[in-house]
Amino acid sequence: MQGGPAMESIDGSLKTMGFDYIDLMLIHSPQPWVEVNQSENRYKEENREVWRAMEDAMQAGKLRAIGISNFLEDDIDNLLESCTVKPMVNQVLAHITNTPFELLDYCRKQHILVEAYSPVAHGEALKNPKIAAMAEKYGVSPAQLCIKYDLQLGLIVLPKTKDVKHMEENARMDFVISEEDMDVLKNLERIKDYGESSFFPVFGGKM
Ligand SMILES: NC(=O)c1ccc[n+]([C@@H]2O[C@H](COP(=O)([O-])OP(=O)(O)OC[C@H]3O[C@@H](n4cnc5c(N)ncnc54)[C@H](OP(=O)(O)O)[C@@H]3O)[C@@H](O)[C@H]2O)c1
Repeated sequence: MQGGPAMESIDGSLKTMGFDYIDLMLIHSPQPWVEVNQSENRYKEENREVWRAMEDAMQAGKLRAIGISNFLEDDIDNLLESCTVKPMVNQVLAHITNTPFELLDYCRKQHILVEAYSPVAHGEALKNPKIAAMAEKYGVSPAQLCIKYDLQLGLIVLPKTKDVKHMEENARMDFVISEEDMDVLKNLERIKDYGESSFFPVFGGKM
């Protein structure tokens, strides 16, 4: 069993939370967050090393499932070439107007579940008139339409809200978007301006 900084970090997280195990742990990004959109370095060896530590931690019962986030196809291949446990999930940005279809297909092919983060574009999708018009057609809110769109793509969806009413609304998914309208939504023009959130690396900005 290997030690090293990654295993120390996993042990540190367990200790901080007072847990014996963690259900799912992800590598947040193949690059250090401050280097996203700033560097070409994909940290191949470092990612393999962290992944080995996560495999060991899983073997030791400290983690139930292990995965990745913000990994592109090459980053995934880098792990697949050396891993003994395949990543179980890849958590990526996926919302109406900004959906990485090729990456989703690739993950599907590799039997890696995809989790969609920022499904309502951190709130920006709620200001899009075309999304609002389609939501009205189905008698739902723009947030519900965004969440359902991701669900119908076969994704696990991670909406965030601090509002109980929004939480209840986001769980009401008793409608189906037609294939025709899914095609319209898949082809909507990309949101270019994420407003106050534009500086976040996930929306193309730099920390
Ligand atoms: N792996 C990564 O790199 C990464 C990156 C970014 C985010 N994430 C994760 O993804 C999750 C969501 O991220 P996010 O906050 O960026 O995105 P989000 O869920 O797309 O957007 C959250 C915003 O939408 C609003 N909202 C949610 N439901 C609503 C509703 N029904 N009606 C009106 N407004 C609604 C919230 O406001 P209210 O609170 O007022 O409802 C909040 O301002 C988080 O758990 C986060 O940790 C992961």
